[in-house]
Amino acid sequence: MCGIVGYIGFRNATDVLIDGLRRLEYRGYDSAGVAVRTPEGLRVVKRSGKLSVLAEALKEERLEGPWGIGHTRWATHGAPTDPNAHPHTTEDGRIAVIHNGIIENYLELKEALRARGHRFRSETDSEVLAHLIEEKYQGDLFQALREALMEVRGAYAVVAVHQDHEELVAARTVSPLVIGLGEGENFLASDVPALLPYTRRVIFLHDGDLARITREGVEIRDLEGNPLAREVVEIDWTLEAAEKGGFPHYMLKEIYEQPWVLENTLGGRLREEEGDVELGLGLDSKALERIHVIACGTAAYAGWYGKYLLEALARIPTEWDVASEYRYRDPVVDERTLAIAISQSGETIDTLEGLREAKAKGARTLGVINAKGSSLTREVEDVLYIHAGPEIGVASTKAYIAMLAAMAMLAVHLGRGRGTLSQEGARELLREMRKLPRLVEEVLEKRPLVAHIAEKYHQAQDFLFLGRHVQAPTAYEGALKLKEISYIHAEAYPAGEMKHGPIALIDEHLPVVVLATRGPLYEKTLSNIQEVRARGGKVIAIATEGDGEIPKLAQDVIPVPEVHPLLAPIVSVVPLQLLAYEIAVLLGRDVDQPRNLAKSVTVE
Ligand code: M6R
Repeated sequence: MCGIVGYIGFRNATDVLIDGLRRLEYRGYDSAGVAVRTPEGLRVVKRSGKLSVLAEALKEERLEGPWGIGHTRWATHGAPTDPNAHPHTTEDGRIAVIHNGIIENYLELKEALRARGHRFRSETDSEVLAHLIEEKYQGDLFQALREALMEVRGAYAVVAVHQDHEELVAARTVSPLVIGLGEGENFLASDVPALLPYTRRVIFLHDGDLARITREGVEIRDLEGNPLAREVVEIDWTLEAAEKGGFPHYMLKEIYEQPWVLENTLGGRLREEEGDVELGLGLDSKALERIHVIACGTAAYAGWYGKYLLEALARIPTEWDVASEYRYRDPVVDERTLAIAISQSGETIDTLEGLREAKAKGARTLGVINAKGSSLTREVEDVLYIHAGPEIGVASTKAYIAMLAAMAMLAVHLGRGRGTLSQEGARELLREMRKLPRLVEEVLEKRPLVAHIAEKYHQAQDFLFLGRHVQAPTAYEGALKLKEISYIHAEAYPAGEMKHGPIALIDEHLPVVVLATRGPLYEKTLSNIQEVRARGGKVIAIATEGDGEIPKLAQDVIPVPEVHPLLAPIVSVVPLQLLAYEIAVLLGRDVDQPRNLAKSVTVE
């Protein structure tokens, strides 16, 4: 977590840094700070709280200078206080450091540094970096950083400045860092949106890279000091795509972008005539004996959905795990296993480590990823990009729908390759997929109805979400969205499991959201609704348009258009996203930056 920015050039660094941090605030918002080289020397201003608190402080204490660094923090070691905010400086104030990640051996380093006379002002792991660099410094900051990192174990994106050197020195291992290339100016950031107002030409640093950045250029070396050549990538995201586009919140904008996202994810890949999908993967589907799907949070629910489709269409035994469990359960993997890691950011450390575990055991690897150039893209053999565009809202929405579409395409493709899915069966699914953008658009028109339902239930203390088969992951995703942004306790269960325990929760105070679209388990779901009603529960049903039965049973119904049952989650999740959004707004929550969360979780 944490957002990092750096600037060197001809503009006022403070303005560039604050602007960049604003675009990275989704990565953490516990505190923020900047260090700028002013005519009086290197000066630091940092404050606990959101970026707006720092911005206010900078109105009083104006920092003017052509280079500097900035940081927005998601607290790991030490509370969100002013002293724990970054940048951290050496005692003489000549060196300042910002860091994203975790220094695993910081306690032993800190002990040793203390014994050698260093005095610490924060409880963070990051501060050891400033002291280590100070110790190693003999006139060359780049060299000092390199030597300091030799003693460090853990994850880092780190940037250091020294008031006597007109340069930014940086390094990364595990945590992301991108260099933006300008004319007579250069930039650094944890993520691309911070660079977009200034440049689209970027270099993604790789694990183990160190960089020296001046106004004129960039020099990249490895930890041993050997020069490296890294590709300059042209980013095609527009700045507008990364901004709110007139919506009050990024989350709402991203929900409304979903028809377009589906066009992007599916477009150009569906081959209805052939009954196949063009994914450009080098996979030999017949050589696969099993699939392991690894992901976290929302991406994990997309993985769970993928399991159902891969088994149904490609008949490949598929296991699905949250990555933090997968990594430590000693999974049975061999070279006939395909490990699929799903991630919006491509930087989630649990997912990366889970993938590495599968890879070390010999698995073939595939990433289903949104962020181009992210760490995960470099660790997998094949990438299936979901093309959702930048997702800024901490609660994932459009990436989820794109992940579902990507997993559905993959299942069709593998099914065709293995001969387990007929050409006609594939054609039917592809024709249905083609309709998805339009169907999602129709669901978005139901927002007033969803807002009305939100009004009715937003004071509830708890919610239960139920769904079966492919709609079980939808139920879990609906509950996660509500928890994340409204802070209402929400549980999800496979509907058939309700009678084995959660049914005890049901009374007249409990709203129960049931995914009850038409499909093979429709009748069974109707019985589950009856069971809820019999105990006084309030049912909010997501039902197929034209369903005559459900309105007789449920207090509230949100109709969604009919589509192939295997694709129903792609339309059904939309009202659940809207419901969570409307409830959170009614409760006055911070929708885009919910408490305790960060967009990209780069710590274990
Ligand atoms: O970037 P990733 O897709 O790897 O992120 C995984 C989860 O951290 C993420 O989905 C998280 O659960 C979101 N807050 C969900 O809205």
